[in-house]
Amino acid sequence: MTIPFFIEKYVKQIKAMNPKYDKPCEVSKLDPITFTDSENIKLSFVALADTHLPDRNTAEKNLENIFTDISGSKEKIDALILAGDIADYGFTKEYRRFFRVFTRHKNELKLLITMGNHDVRLFYKTALYNITNGIEDLLSINLNGKPYYSYNVNGYRFIVLATEKPCLLEAYISPEQIDFLKNELKKASEENEPCFVICHQPLDNTHGLPKVCKNGSIGKQNNQVKAVLEKHKNVFFLNGHLHSGICDYVESIINKENNVISINLPSYRKENNFGSIPSGAGYICEVYEDKVIFKARSLLTGGYIKGHNTYFEYPLIF
Ligand SMILES: [Fe+2]
Repeated sequence: MTIPFFIEKYVKQIKAMNPKYDKPCEVSKLDPITFTDSENIKLSFVALADTHLPDRNTAEKNLENIFTDISGSKEKIDALILAGDIADYGFTKEYRRFFRVFTRHKNELKLLITMGNHDVRLFYKTALYNITNGIEDLLSINLNGKPYYSYNVNGYRFIVLATEKPCLLEAYISPEQIDFLKNELKKASEENEPCFVICHQPLDNTHGLPKVCKNGSIGKQNNQVKAVLEKHKNVFFLNGHLHSGICDYVESIINKENNVISINLPSYRKENNFGSIPSGAGYICEVYEDKVIFKARSLLTGGYIKGHNTYFEYPLIF
């Protein structure tokens, strides 16, 4: 038995085990996206993670629901971020489905995505090729073969980090990538605007780590990344990876003095491990001159999620 055949067989077995994730869902129009202050909003974006797209029609349809929900609102959403684990196994046919959906909407809003461990753990080079090509097409930028980049939306800086080696769980952030982060955060500080850093893996000792997941953080370069982030004001670090629902582990204050905050994004496709279990959740982020607001929402079925840990508001420090 060749290795690819063995893997294919393994994947088919796993697929057969989890069809429950891909029951087709409809998007309700009863509770559309609305902003707290539409007149004064400066930037809005949807924050999601862990789409884990398999090669399955119903999963592709459910991915499209994100855009159905966004288009059902009268408000203008400027961007969408997806914090990794784009595909479930990292196969080219999964990325073909993913980018078929995302490419259809690339002229409606800016789509910023990064790789997760599920993308790269089996076929790093395949994932890197598919994802970097996809990002270059979505944003009309040149990544020069690197998986990390920055992008400005409405004058606000998004810094997107990614592992540069295959990884089972943790990431590898090279010294060059750390320098890139330093330089980009320095520019954001000079611009005196809040900045959004996106990485699949969370920082250590945040969001219930290491209790909720052994080796669930960035890994060896964790302290270097954290030290760079902490030096700057109004930095929002957005991660996925833990598949935590809406729960006490959503928010972590990294540095209160500088307003460095981490938001742990729920899993879009798979059920969450704790907190509110249902898949499809994410956050709508509203950025104003003096504050940033995150509101939990189901982009899979439409509607804001009510209850504890579904609303966060951070005053900006100047
Ligand atoms: Fe994941």
